[in-house]
Amino acid sequence: MARKEIMQKVAGYDEIIRDNTILEKYGFDYPARKGEVQKIIDSLHPQRLDLIVSEIREQTASAKSFRLVSGNGALPPFQSGQYINVFLEAGGIRTSRPYSIASSPTQTGYYEITVRRVEDGFVSNVLLDELKPGDRLQASSPAGNFHYNPLFHGNRLAFIAGGSGITPFMSMIREMADRNLDRRLHLFYGSRVEEDVIYRQEIERIAEAHKNFTWDLVVSEPDPSFSGCRGFIDANLIGKKLEGTDWTFFVCGPEAMYQFCLPQLEKLSIPARKTKVEVMGAPKNIVSYPGWPENVKAGDVFQVAVKGKKSIRAAAVEPLMISLERAGLAIPALCRSGECSLCRTKLLSGNVYQPNGVKLRKSDRTFGYIHPCMAYPISDIEILL
Ligand SMILES: Cc1cc2nc3c(=O)[nH]c(=O)nc-3n(C[C@H](O)[C@H](O)[C@H](O)COP(=O)(O)OP(=O)(O)OC[C@H]3O[C@@H](n4cnc5c(N)ncnc54)[C@H](O)[C@@H]3O)c2cc1C
Ligand code: FES
Repeated sequence: MARKEIMQKVAGYDEIIRDNTILEKYGFDYPARKGEVQKIIDSLHPQRLDLIVSEIREQTASAKSFRLVSGNGALPPFQSGQYINVFLEAGGIRTSRPYSIASSPTQTGYYEITVRRVEDGFVSNVLLDELKPGDRLQASSPAGNFHYNPLFHGNRLAFIAGGSGITPFMSMIREMADRNLDRRLHLFYGSRVEEDVIYRQEIERIAEAHKNFTWDLVVSEPDPSFSGCRGFIDANLIGKKLEGTDWTFFVCGPEAMYQFCLPQLEKLSIPARKTKVEVMGAPKNIVSYPGWPENVKAGDVFQVAVKGKKSIRAAAVEPLMISLERAGLAIPALCRSGECSLCRTKLLSGNVYQPNGVKLRKSDRTFGYIHPCMAYPISDIEILL
């Protein structure tokens, strides 16, 4: 059979030839096609999700899981390890907080997030104390870079979790179990006391059913009867528990855990490219960070002029985004950790402190853009929103 005859048997051949003839004659209508592409992108990555709380499960005395179903169509797909940013009004203030999705990406009917109470926390307490089944929440589409990449991460993954930092790993572990992935996983899960351990029974069940998944619970203030690992997740424990080399480490937990565990990985000569660290939000004690100006004290308050809008007072130790939200000036936000660039804002005058780790582009530095979610005023400033 001649090549042309074969081609004519291919479904859609005639339509393609016809489209080509039209395109050769009239050219390509880019704006019309762009609209089509945008429609597909919007359906896969909507700007805002309308979510309904379908179920609430108490995990520990200080943590609850919320199942969120879609109120306006299918939920966008995500990669295990990603988060959504939840938007809500708390105490009359429009704000948001990111929460990792703990459910498996194979579960397309709902996202599960698990929130742990932060003493004096602004949003976690509202979610834990006030949210009930049937309530609606707005959220971003899933986002974030804390996920597995087969090109770089190999087949042996070690997870280091602290407290509510278990959530992205729960998604990865559940996905491994659901898809029966041929991946070797080991979880080190650090907790102050056993009662605070989230998802314990499910983790145990998965470890029993899947020999490629093992885990160690590491408790720093255990009861005398506790028979597992005591203390912190250190180089000695990691070296003892992981057979062979070539592990990629994923780390997610509170600030103090990063400060302790990352040097332990360095001790084991794990190269930086084999360590992936989740962002953790704004630091708690910013004045102790390297490079914080000595003349700016914890109690200092500065004037922030928002060009063409209003002038507000902002505490030096609070991220500028929080002060703006408090004044009713909510700006776009996703990670609230200096990573995603969504909140980038022009600094017209004055100075802010931005800790290491804020992902400013070279052009941001050159043209004076800041990330208010991780920028602290250290003088009177003027910004353009
Ligand atoms: C990628 C990512 C994933 C995360 N995943 C999880 C998760 O799975 N589970 C989980 O529990 N947590 C998770 N977190 C942390 C979560 O986003 C919140 O930081 C946490 O719930 C604490 O929020 P909070 O508002 O209760 O507490 P706070 O940390 O106290 O609040 C944050 C900020 O709000 C400010 N604030 C206080 N009062 C006010 C006010 N009146 N008006 C405005 N602002 C005020 C505080 O100054 C503080 O800087 C994640 C964070 C990130 C970055
Ligand atoms: S919200 Fe992501 S960089 Fe500010």
